[in-house]
Amino acid sequence: MKLLTLDDVSKQQVESWIKISIQDYKEVDGTLLSAPRASDLFVFLGFFEPSTRTRLSFEMASKKLKLNVLNLGDAKNSSIVKGETLKESLRTLNSMGADLAVLRANMSVDEMRDAADVFDGHVINGGSGVEAHPTQALLDIATLINEGFQIHKSKILFIGDIQHSRVWASHKRLSALLGYELGVLTPAKGIEATRSGDSHDKAIQNFSYKSEALEWADSCILLRPQRERHSGAFISDDEYKQKFRFNSSDLLDSKNFYVLHPGPYQVGLEFESAVLENKNCLISNQVKMGVSMRKTLIQELLYNKESQ
Ligand code: CP
Repeated sequence: MKLLTLDDVSKQQVESWIKISIQDYKEVDGTLLSAPRASDLFVFLGFFEPSTRTRLSFEMASKKLKLNVLNLGDAKNSSIVKGETLKESLRTLNSMGADLAVLRANMSVDEMRDAADVFDGHVINGGSGVEAHPTQALLDIATLINEGFQIHKSKILFIGDIQHSRVWASHKRLSALLGYELGVLTPAKGIEATRSGDSHDKAIQNFSYKSEALEWADSCILLRPQRERHSGAFISDDEYKQKFRFNSSDLLDSKNFYVLHPGPYQVGLEFESAVLENKNCLISNQVKMGVSMRKTLIQELLYNKESQ
């Protein structure tokens, strides 16, 4: 299977992956066992953009499943710097006999799909350009469901730089599959009013003020300003803090309001440091769920014929 965007999967698959990940998170015995052939299988981690959480959680997930890991590590030490393309790197890994490739690259989903076509094994998108980060969206929602959220009734607010966010892009698709509502509070202009592939016909709410946005939402996902992707001017840090920073006073304990952030984050800019200490801050839970979700996906793709 080529899991490059959430357009590639069904609602039934997503619901099953979330259920298995939550069982693994809770350490329900026997949820994800390493399979007999594990020592013969190889997972390639090809990250051509920086990453901490995604790369290491895929590596940890693979090792927990007793699989062999081929971690490209710093792409600057690979033949990419000599002009080799991702497609040719994947052709090479295919000849070696790797079974699953996890890729991160600054390219469109179509470009990644074209490269992935030369690889006979499974491919998982670990983040492509500004278009897709499917495993992040899945683990975000698994984290909320694990806290008791009835996701199809949820209103999730995104605060920040949605224009450059592949996490936001994948949530637009996942929300259409699972039925949760989306709101945005963002410096970006010209927000699309609808979600891709939407069967639920729910418009995206676009808020101008944090107070009204938080009044509407029952959880929020913070995003960082992605300065490395900005071509034009972006608002100053001072203005960002004033309009978009999440403060501990914004956490409404009585409302069971949860705050998430996919990371990487800049404490003090996207949120006040005290937010990290609040019980309704789920950032650490997301990281832990990241390992469970990636274990689930690797196991499902390698061993479950229905997911292949
Ligand atoms: N959320 C996320 O993709 O983090 P990394 O860039 O650290 O992998």
